[in-house]
Amino acid sequence: MTTNSSLSNAQFAFLDLKPDLDVIVGEVQQSLSLEAKSISPKFFYDERGSELFDAITELPEYYVTRTEMALFDAHMEEISDSLEENICVIEYGSGSTKKIRRLLDVLKPEAYVPVDISGDYLLSNAQTLLGDFPALKIFPVCADITESFALPTQVSELRPLGFYPGSSIGNFEPAKAVDFLKRVHATLGTGGYFLVGVDAKKDVSILEAAYDDAAGVTAQFNLNTLVHLNEKLGADFDLDQFVHFSKYNSDQGCIQMFLKSSVAQQVNVAGKVISFAEGELLHTENSYKYAKQEFITLAQSAQFECLKSWQDDNEWFSLFLLRAC
Ligand code: AVI
Repeated sequence: MTTNSSLSNAQFAFLDLKPDLDVIVGEVQQSLSLEAKSISPKFFYDERGSELFDAITELPEYYVTRTEMALFDAHMEEISDSLEENICVIEYGSGSTKKIRRLLDVLKPEAYVPVDISGDYLLSNAQTLLGDFPALKIFPVCADITESFALPTQVSELRPLGFYPGSSIGNFEPAKAVDFLKRVHATLGTGGYFLVGVDAKKDVSILEAAYDDAAGVTAQFNLNTLVHLNEKLGADFDLDQFVHFSKYNSDQGCIQMFLKSSVAQQVNVAGKVISFAEGELLHTENSYKYAKQEFITLAQSAQFECLKSWQDDNEWFSLFLLRAC
């Protein structure tokens, strides 16, 4: 664990809990050695991947972000009124600071803990935010949110509000989403709040367009995983030999994204040779969509009660305020 002392004082401290490279190499080699090859969606998010995701959120086809933002605008006061004083907001997978700014404006928490795997992006966003919210204490944590991590000691006396917008919880398989929520419960402790945005099931054509936009930004985002692995692990994926492919799986209730190998090829991933057949699919992401009651039931199995929920008029997206009980 590293606390960068040059970036550490009572108002700002950066905690580096990033996994070691050999752990990452082992994980990637293992998932590429399975019969159905996959790469975890967390590998989308190097600096370029985070920028591409920001671009996705602006696309006309990607209704997710603007629908959720409209819900925040409409209900933030009510969310704020539902909470106690002395709040510390812990944002899971913080990425860009766009959503959190609205929350901070209304909630006026004591402290903010952004948690993200992309360390440089996290740190620069947190420093910009500090300039704009000079009274706020900010303790960024560079960590893999799919694993357990501890909160900075500086916030132990505050009431935690976990914040997980954007339907990122949909990127876990449902059973893994329950495991994730159990870890969130352990991190926040009984009485901790959790504000989570969840995408709903809807017309397949709307869903499929959102994950295969006309401008090809989602395709670039998907392919960037290979760039990330080439740079981080010294792999030699040839980007010209893979294409973006996505579809809705109605049995599972999720969009699935893949990279399809255009040719039979071999790729060296940190010393391990991985063979791809022509047309073979490399699975990169699931994005599960939940009806309102489906998600409440899922949260209950991780000992969260639903205090309140909000949906837009089309019922395309839901916001849930949960409490760890
Ligand atoms: C971050 N996550 C919720 C996005 C989603 O919609 O599942 C990632 C994404 N993948 C393709 N487009 C956006």
